[in-house]
Amino acid sequence: HLSALAEFPIGVAVPAGDAGNSMLNSPERQAIVEQHFSQLTAENIMKPSYLQPSEGNFFFDDADALIAYAENNGLSVHGHALIWHFQIADWMANYSGDASAWQQMLETHVTEVASHFEGQLASWDVVNEAFLDDGSYRNVDVGNDAGSVWYQNIGPQYIEYAFNAARAADAHVDLYYNDYNISWNDTKLNAILTMAEDFIDRGIPISGIGFQMHVDKSGPGKAKIKEQFQKVVDLGLKVKITEVDLRMNADGSATSLTNQLLLQQKARYQEIVEAYIETVPPSLRGGISVWGIADPDTWIVPLYGNPDWPLMFDDQFEPKPALQGFADGLAAT
Ligand code: G3I
Repeated sequence: HLSALAEFPIGVAVPAGDAGNSMLNSPERQAIVEQHFSQLTAENIMKPSYLQPSEGNFFFDDADALIAYAENNGLSVHGHALIWHFQIADWMANYSGDASAWQQMLETHVTEVASHFEGQLASWDVVNEAFLDDGSYRNVDVGNDAGSVWYQNIGPQYIEYAFNAARAADAHVDLYYNDYNISWNDTKLNAILTMAEDFIDRGIPISGIGFQMHVDKSGPGKAKIKEQFQKVVDLGLKVKITEVDLRMNADGSATSLTNQLLLQQKARYQEIVEAYIETVPPSLRGGISVWGIADPDTWIVPLYGNPDWPLMFDDQFEPKPALQGFADGLAAT
């Protein structure tokens, strides 16, 4: 019972609707969720392309079913994600209008969605991945990074428009800015925190920073992670680990999951959880969520091709040593 060891949410991203092997049809996945977790994130079905597939037509049935399951089982829900450059419907990507029409389109999406779920969620990723690794706003296509139509059509103000609309729709839900690589990339985290400080100064509602933490078996190390969390704590903002998973075979050298890899993974989960507990005071702990239930569910293998085993349960839905590592990490002070 992992979540029984923590005073803050211990979450997991789950497939639902027709986006993957819906956990609502999977007794093995439900058993794990109910035994070990206290919060759910929808891995896909609360993203814009699912919730507003054509302009003005909102589809909430799949998300409502997931939330009903969560409520029936005493789990809270973290909403993911109101605004992202990816997984938006074609009509949104190809929207034509000036900056103020785009602003209105963005605000309509955020208002409709956040209002529909008002009072039912613990927190939202309001804006996801608005910055690039060099600390600039995600704008045009750079290398492998897709550009952001939001930035291109509205400018950086789109971020605060989304936060303001989310708060207007739901007075109590926590509002996060969420991004990847910030547990090690100073330039990127500093740029995000410059924005967050400006939001605080100007009264734009922001509750915390979401650290995705799709990290690797070799790094970042505990000291670096703690340093990055501390910068957020120093601003009085909450820290939430929103999407942790651990790539064990980024270089493709492993062909099977060895005992050595299992133990390395256990130690890595433990040090990440320890870094969190040792750095973030209880009042600023938004929780820790793993990005998937069991290894066959991971997004990493379809995207990168190598065999990999990033999660805490194996292909038989049995716990890996990583689960004990996570539990041991929760004993830190
Ligand atoms: O639903 C369709 C299905 O109808 C179709 O037959 C199938 C064929 O390809 O595709 C399905 O859509 C896939 C969707 O997941 C649902 O399974 C998309 O192709 C696939 O690209 C999509 O991947 C998701 C990815 O976000 C998109 O970037 C992953 O499941 C999801 O884990 C991943 O999550 C992101 C977070 O939202 C943000 N942070 C990074 C994280 C990992 O990339």
